[in-house]
Amino acid sequence: MDYTTILVSVQENIATLTINRPTKLNALNKETITELHDAFKALEQNSAVRVILLTGSGEKAFVAGADISEFANFSSDEGTSLAAHGQEILFDFVQNLKKPVIAAINGFALGGGLELAMACHIRVASDNAKMGLPELTLGLIPGYGGTQRLPQLVGKGRAMEMILTAGMIPADEALKIGLVNHVVPQPELLTFCEGIALKIVKNAPLAITKAIQSINANFKDGENGFEIEINSFGASFDTKDFKEGTAAFLEKRKAQFTGE
Ligand code: COA
Repeated sequence: MDYTTILVSVQENIATLTINRPTKLNALNKETITELHDAFKALEQNSAVRVILLTGSGEKAFVAGADISEFANFSSDEGTSLAAHGQEILFDFVQNLKKPVIAAINGFALGGGLELAMACHIRVASDNAKMGLPELTLGLIPGYGGTQRLPQLVGKGRAMEMILTAGMIPADEALKIGLVNHVVPQPELLTFCEGIALKIVKNAPLAITKAIQSINANFKDGENGFEIEINSFGASFDTKDFKEGTAAFLEKRKAQFTGE
């Protein structure tokens, strides 16, 4: 499929999705959000893809937020549907994707940009990255899940401070508080993320999906994560991948998983 605001490439079971509006610091406008949804959906259905890397074009920004020029004149109803629609088609969509998404944060991740990174399953930052939720400086609050996912990742106290001060933190501080898993020099960012992806690719695809769903269940109201874990664990025994994984172990060879 042809996109105008994003780039997609696939190599060795790893897809790289690049948000490509560098002159606007990759700010998320309506079109980008729709194209990201379409691309994530297509990659989820593409059996050649096992892991997705998400990054921003250029050396300056991952994503510098939602596109402020698009909502400057919105009413409260329009603001409500902007947040609801965006959360549904992109942020929740990514969090609940069947395949792991790794955010390669290559520069500014602000507002909707940090919220998008937080919806991903794993975050790695380059050493020049800066992260924050500056919405309060605009007279708004975060609307793409930031008030929920930031405290889940870094704790309530730190999330309160980041959101209320609207400040930016550098990559090393993000690492210290658990907002990102690793910090690497910018030229090594994608290779480092590919290294994580290659480790994931070796594992059983259906089990990867079940693990994502079980971990996510811990953060969803009305879901009992322990029950979901028990049921997903049990269901794994019916998969070909389970037979292959255990046979490979007993036969002292590498497993060849098919995702069935
Ligand atoms: N929405 C729309 N456009 C944005 C944007 C956003 N969130 N962030 C950056 N841009 C645009 C700028 O308007 C500018 O466009 P122009 O060249 O047509 O004027 C371009 O990207 C480059 O940004 P600029 O501000 O000139 O770069 P800088 O290096 O001086 O500052 C930032 C970088 C990230 C500090 C600054 O762009 C910024 O504060 N952006 C907004 C962050 C924000 O509030 N995000 C939350 C939105 S809810």
